[in-house]
Amino acid sequence: MGDEECSDRRFGGCYMKGNHTKSKIKIVTKMVFCRKNEIMCGIVGYIGNKKALPILIDGLKKLEYRGYDSAGVAYIENNNVQIVKSVGRIDVLENKLNMKSSTTLGIGHTRWATHGEPSEDNAHPHISNDGNVTLVHNGIIENYQELIHKLKKHGYHFYSETDTEVLANIIDYYYKKYKMGPIDAINRTMVRVRGSYAIAVLFKEHPDEIWVARKDSPMIIGESDSGSYLASDVSAILKYTKKVYYIDNLEAACLKSNHITFYDLNGDIINKELKTIEWDVTASEKNGYEHFMIKEIHEQPEVISKTFHSYVEDDKIDFSKSGLSGDILKDINHIYIVACGSAYHVGVCAQYVIEDLARVPVKVDIASEFRYRNPLLSKDGLVIIISQSGETADSLAALREAKAMGIKTLAIVNVVGSSIAREADYVLYTLAGPEIAVATTKAFSTQLIVSYLFAIELAYAKNVIHKDKYHELLSEMNLLSNKIEDFLNKGIKSIQKIASEFSSIQDAFYIGRGLDYAISLEGSLKLKEISYVHSEAYAAGELKHGTISLIEDHTLVIGIVTMEDLYEKTISNLIEVKSRGGYILTISPNTIDVSKVSDYNINIPSTIKYFYPSIAVIALQLLGYYIAVAKGVDIDKPRNLAKSVTVE
Ligand code: AGP
Repeated sequence: MGDEECSDRRFGGCYMKGNHTKSKIKIVTKMVFCRKNEIMCGIVGYIGNKKALPILIDGLKKLEYRGYDSAGVAYIENNNVQIVKSVGRIDVLENKLNMKSSTTLGIGHTRWATHGEPSEDNAHPHISNDGNVTLVHNGIIENYQELIHKLKKHGYHFYSETDTEVLANIIDYYYKKYKMGPIDAINRTMVRVRGSYAIAVLFKEHPDEIWVARKDSPMIIGESDSGSYLASDVSAILKYTKKVYYIDNLEAACLKSNHITFYDLNGDIINKELKTIEWDVTASEKNGYEHFMIKEIHEQPEVISKTFHSYVEDDKIDFSKSGLSGDILKDINHIYIVACGSAYHVGVCAQYVIEDLARVPVKVDIASEFRYRNPLLSKDGLVIIISQSGETADSLAALREAKAMGIKTLAIVNVVGSSIAREADYVLYTLAGPEIAVATTKAFSTQLIVSYLFAIELAYAKNVIHKDKYHELLSEMNLLSNKIEDFLNKGIKSIQKIASEFSSIQDAFYIGRGLDYAISLEGSLKLKEISYVHSEAYAAGELKHGTISLIEDHTLVIGIVTMEDLYEKTISNLIEVKSRGGYILTISPNTIDVSKVSDYNINIPSTIKYFYPSIAVIALQLLGYYIAVAKGVDIDKPRNLAKSVTVE
């Protein structure tokens, strides 16, 4: 990297410590990676007849799972913009604020910093040089360096290392240059900047308005008798209203205490449909559980049943609300499942079930690879995007890629009105409710349920299975939530005990064959992401091709053994591990005898082979959770992670 790139250490490129003589240059690649990786933040805003600060702080606490290392608010007092920022959790900010302030208008932000250490300078809100424009931002501005050079030529200067400060100044620049008011300045900015953003803006000359705009980053606008609200997701404002608007990409809005006006990119006023949210506020509280994760694990029987019955009535699957009819399904001859993280693991499970039940070829791709792999997709195919948040950037880009190639797209999504849901041709919603813990559990389980229903309906539409099999599968699925409830009531104690035995492990291996291998991927991720234990998942038959060299005395190997037709093969793989000194923890139904190999066994309820991932994953979630509890780490907000990754 030439020096010209490093002329200003605050933005992109390499990072120079001390004076700039060549010998001292230290390239910090993490820096470059970090800019690209500003995972996500949470923004909230309120204008109305109530005190704003308690509403902002309450909303930010609900959004803390989106980012939690620095925060700030801006509010109007005596027609002046007051800004208060802090490093650390929202509590720190709350203690800095004069919560007695009578202000009834404000915006707030909780940040997830990756480039430029969490500091008050870098925390939001950011303000233009003369204080005319103050804003909070979730997303990333790709061409901010270019804009900095442009603005510097017009006398602007910068105090932070953020791309967001650029936004405040470019809006101010257009506001002053064209004197056409806020909407004109915001629209010109949206045309000029590249990247993703959801912004809330205060203009000094318009002290009784909050302006918002978005592109690719999530934003929801709420309306109630007490005022107007905005937030990155509904959990932040659910306490105050269930009446919401969704603004589309490159749209803006002006929030007043008793009215909201929407604009398109031409500055014309547009109408938006008011929607009502089904979820209630308790869904986003802990209800006496120690962590959101364990609360959400216990919610699985209910949300699995809710999701199942939202599509199955009178023993018949009905996807009509999504527009996915039997006629459409029967003409689909290729399935391409694309997703990230745990959602990808649902895809791997779905591949086994769809191919075996419907005899339709399925390809499963990690979204960040799919979008650049120039994939070969068949015109009579269907691309299925699976996502809890519906905002994961790589999955959204993969959806757009498939649409650009003229392939039908189906989204299996949990958040109503999210970008992926709104852009897909068909949507099958999961009814997991708001999922707060970063490590997904209940959303994962409801995605499995929808995937099974899709496989059954596809197989039936293609006459691969007939009525009896159809009903047999549905009636067994209908038993799943009770079986899981039962397991949660009876199985937790033994898992807690096993977890305490393994709380000091450094490494673990998960193995299985077929669907057991597919679900072991999720088991391994759950342990990794919340307890920071290094773990890998392997197809059991693959171990002897290299990895078995890592097995030594007391290495923990978790064998998932539910596939009866692969029983012997899996047991012999576990024997290979045991003979190298490995500790064997098996997860199996009592219809399968693992006594020959297992040092510990977690007994799970039995079911039909296709549905074992739904039961085995509960044991895997609990094992990861209790090992993490034993390690005393922050379960709901694991380090280096955020709930949904809205940039690539
Ligand atoms: C899972 O626990 C993680 N939070 C992560 O792997 C997640 O599954 C992934 O980021 C995909 O998120 P999405 O389902 O919201 O698209």
